Amino acid sequence: MSAEPVVYREQGDIAFFTLNRPEKLNALNPRVFELLGEFVQRFATESSAKVAVLHGNGTSFAAGADIEHYVDISAVQYLEFMRTGNRVQSLYSECPKPVIAALHGYALGGGLELALACDFIVVEAEAQLGLPEVRLGLLPGGGGTQRLPRLIGTMRTAEMLMTAKRITGAQAVEWGMALGVGEHPDALSAATALAERIALQATLPVRLAKVLLRSGADASLDAAMDLEQSMGAVVFATEDAREGIRAFVEKRRPEFKGA
Ligand code: COA
Repeated sequence: MSAEPVVYREQGDIAFFTLNRPEKLNALNPRVFELLGEFVQRFATESSAKVAVLHGNGTSFAAGADIEHYVDISAVQYLEFMRTGNRVQSLYSECPKPVIAALHGYALGGGLELALACDFIVVEAEAQLGLPEVRLGLLPGGGGTQRLPRLIGTMRTAEMLMTAKRITGAQAVEWGMALGVGEHPDALSAATALAERIALQATLPVRLAKVLLRSGADASLDAAMDLEQSMGAVVFATEDAREGIRAFVEKRRPEFKGA
């Protein structure tokens, strides 16, 4: 494995981003954010891969921001670091192609927040998820107070935020913030299988489903329904939609061309 703290590779239709500081439980430092940003942009704009999987090398996904980096920085530098992390998260949440976070071991603080910016979280039952910043005298700065309550509710999030309580992957699945691994042995293989299933589908509806899920969440129901219908009509006019409908009627598998 490369000495870089994040590694990029592609296999067929899938791009893999691997957090690669296993000796530090993949703690996130400025170089990690720089590479995470660079790779997601490569995946979004230059690559023919259709889906990405973000996972961690070693025993954990990521145990949060690199606390050693905090020792000597000022509040202004801390704010800049938070902003950098947020910009990178936005590149994931706004990436036109879907990104799946595969969690095992610890997914804490900024690690969990990075996963929350992805379209899917696939988690192993024994994984440990949490926002332990309060124990350091800090607050989460990457959406922990915002994205998490939208998924699991305010009170469950408040307990995690104010007591540093960790939850298991099994609990995260039960609360609807993640998918379990099903019959797969681990989160990476479950996420890869999910990516393969997504890659088989027509490209445009997959991408527009992502847009609808993200933009609809903050819009009024009427506006979101209008957007859904407009996008539905655009998709209906594509060659892939013709092919999908014809294939159903002809009782064969569709051959989507991404057009
Ligand atoms: N930042 C920097 N280094 C970290 C880290 C972090 N967030 N989390 C773990 N590490 C490092 C440890 O310092 C240790 O390095 P060392 O071997 O050079 O001493 C190594 O990763 C292994 O961690 P260790 O604490 O020995 O493993 P553990 O299994 O006993 O405990 C955790 C695991 C996750 C419970 C513990 O490491 C922890 O609480 N980490 C901090 C989590 C956190 O507060 N995250 C939010 C940050 S804002």
